Amino acid sequence: MATEHTFVMIKPDGVARGLIGEIISRFERKGLNLEKIRRLHIDEPLALRHYAEHVEKPFFPELLEFVTSGPVVAMEWSGEGAVNVCRDLMGVTDPKKAAAGTIRGDYGLAVTHNLVHGSDSSDSAARELGIFFG
Ligand code: RTP
Ligand code: MG
Repeated sequence: MATEHTFVMIKPDGVARGLIGEIISRFERKGLNLEKIRRLHIDEPLALRHYAEHVEKPFFPELLEFVTSGPVVAMEWSGEGAVNVCRDLMGVTDPKKAAAGTIRGDYGLAVTHNLVHGSDSSDSAARELGIFFG
């Protein structure tokens, strides 16, 4: 399988709860390579761009308020099959349903406050890496 690059972001809850190191170490121990890292505070225009596919969804106002509520850590990770490997390490969207041993399964309860974002395809990864590191 080819080396892939993907975008991962520690959301404001993960930063506020002091879980940056814990979350990064899970990707690192898996064998992925940290290519880029940047701490920033997402403003509304950036959130609209990043989450363009969700702007019309009923949960978007809550997601917008949350993702702009404090600093995040944006990262580029690489490795074999990195897109799906990172999604698997994160667990499914709703932390209540995420398996134990995943980041969301171990640290979350609420669907909005689910600690991390990961690109869902290579195309999304290229788009999102361009937004945050382009
Ligand atoms: P992400 O994009 O953050 O990696 O999460 P995901 O692919 O697992 O989930 P997605 O469907 O893309 O949803 C993006 C984020 O929106 C919030 N959400 N809230 N209240 C709800 O029903 C709901 N559904 C989604 C979550 O923060 C989710 O990660
Ligand atoms: Mg998504």
